[in-house]
Amino acid sequence: MADSMADLFRRLTAGVYVIGVAHGGLRNAFTASSVMLVSFRPLMVALGINPTHASYPILNSGRVFAINVLRAEHLALARHFGTQSGRSVDKLSSVAWRAGRSGAPLLLDALAYFDCQVDSEIEAGDHRLVVGRVVDGAVLCPDAEQLIYAATGDLDRSADLYAKDFNSWK
Ligand SMILES: Cc1cc2nc3c(=O)[nH]c(=O)nc-3n(C[C@H](O)[C@H](O)[C@H](O)COP(=O)(O)O)c2cc1C
Repeated sequence: MADSMADLFRRLTAGVYVIGVAHGGLRNAFTASSVMLVSFRPLMVALGINPTHASYPILNSGRVFAINVLRAEHLALARHFGTQSGRSVDKLSSVAWRAGRSGAPLLLDALAYFDCQVDSEIEAGDHRLVVGRVVDGAVLCPDAEQLIYAATGDLDRSADLYAKDFNSWK
């Protein structure tokens, strides 16, 4: 039953991104699929983050983040940043990156990036919806294809997280 709920929600088409966060000398990054454009004027995007992630207190204090758009061949990068925590490994030490205008880490190999300053945050169940104002960005590989969330299978192990039905949760 949980598998069919996961199957349903994976029909929401999403990309796969590495979200870089920074506060002072602290930096980390995690994989995210819950990312969307929310406003044209001003340019604003939103992301959903689990507040138990190591990235969350850095994001909350530093109030900046970068959205690094992964390419179709970047499944290993999605795994690297999405299946281990910054609490146990320095995930940025093995990839090439630079600090963006906001200070948040930008992956040099990404398809594109958006550099953002946090505007607001909304508590949303077990996640936080963080809205950011886009202060910089660029397409780095115009001919590359984006990695699509559906192509990552259960890499995020979310199949076990879905409620069994619409009226209950585990
Ligand atoms: C494909 C994929 C998509 C993910 N999407 C999200 C997401 O949208 N939001 C989120 O909070 N975590 C998401 N995660 C989970 C985090 O990337 C993962 O828990 C990570 O280890 C957290 O790292 P940190 O503790 O260093 O911050 C995703 C993981 C994968 C593999």
